[in-house]
Amino acid sequence: MKISFPKLIWFEKESVCFLDQRFLPLEEKVFSARGVEEVAYAIREMVIRGAPAIGIAGVFGMALAEKRGLSLLAAAKILKETRQTAHDLFYGIEWYLNRRREDGETRPELLAEEYYRTIVERCKRIGAFGEPFIKDGARVLTHCNAGALAVAEYGTALAPIFVAKEKGKDVFVYADETRPRLQGARLTCYELVKAGIKHRLIPDNAAGYYLSRGDIQLVIVGTDRVARNGDFANKIGTYEKAVVAKENGVPFYVAAPTSTIDFKLESGKEIPIEFRSENEVLYINGVRIAPLETRAENPAFDVTPAKFVTAFITEKGIFKPKEIRKLRDV
Ligand code: MRU
Repeated sequence: MKISFPKLIWFEKESVCFLDQRFLPLEEKVFSARGVEEVAYAIREMVIRGAPAIGIAGVFGMALAEKRGLSLLAAAKILKETRQTAHDLFYGIEWYLNRRREDGETRPELLAEEYYRTIVERCKRIGAFGEPFIKDGARVLTHCNAGALAVAEYGTALAPIFVAKEKGKDVFVYADETRPRLQGARLTCYELVKAGIKHRLIPDNAAGYYLSRGDIQLVIVGTDRVARNGDFANKIGTYEKAVVAKENGVPFYVAAPTSTIDFKLESGKEIPIEFRSENEVLYINGVRIAPLETRAENPAFDVTPAKFVTAFITEKGIFKPKEIRKLRDV
């Protein structure tokens, strides 16, 4: 059975349209951006989020800027200032600038579509390479959302799971809720329901319980940026899941297209970490949950050292962390 995926981003007349992820799963609203500033708003405010999807949004923003006759370098600057950890944003914008230098003819929307298709193809390959790790009857833990809403179609961490399901395997997912923005509860579960995949939502701090009982056979997460030594950044809370997985002998896989690898960085210490508003922690759905006097901190990502990674699943195949630095030449 072929899975059908939610539509993430598209051109409509003179606008870029997004499925507005802030309202999922309860409402499927469309956010329409008529200018590059509005695309930047959509990225910053997480109308669209997830590393490769942010890259795609950056590319669509560049195409919109070009259609409007704006300077591409000015547009690139505005878009690059939105979110700092996801490497795909910078990769996608540079891809657009380079592609435009080589080819002055192709219409902006078609260039954006070409980038989109490239990422979709990479994710299908991630799914094909990762699927054999999922045995019939396996229970998989994932953190945050790294499916169609974070990439396009198959996604990264969810790609092997979707392919396993399409092949008729019995697969079960434990989805971490992923405080404070609840991407696991809202988005991963939304995708799993649509794909007909058995799952349970678990509190963010419950993964250790299930890992220690032998209830989980493997962990698969996505990533926002990978350094040359195999350290990687992902949604806050990933690091502790990786440590507990290793402690319990559970394999821990990181799925990502090679656009997420930042070959300029030697180690995870150099990965810039985005801090978001404290209000994301202090309030849930507009309701304050801590005393008025309490201040919060809100790092959006953490860095997991390479030693906790069993393997990276990429569109080029399966690689051990120490092989990441060679990938540029593969
Ligand atoms: O803050 P977000 O929702 O953009 O963070 C997303 C994640 O951390 C994902 O796990 C990561 O981007 C991998 S997506 C394929």
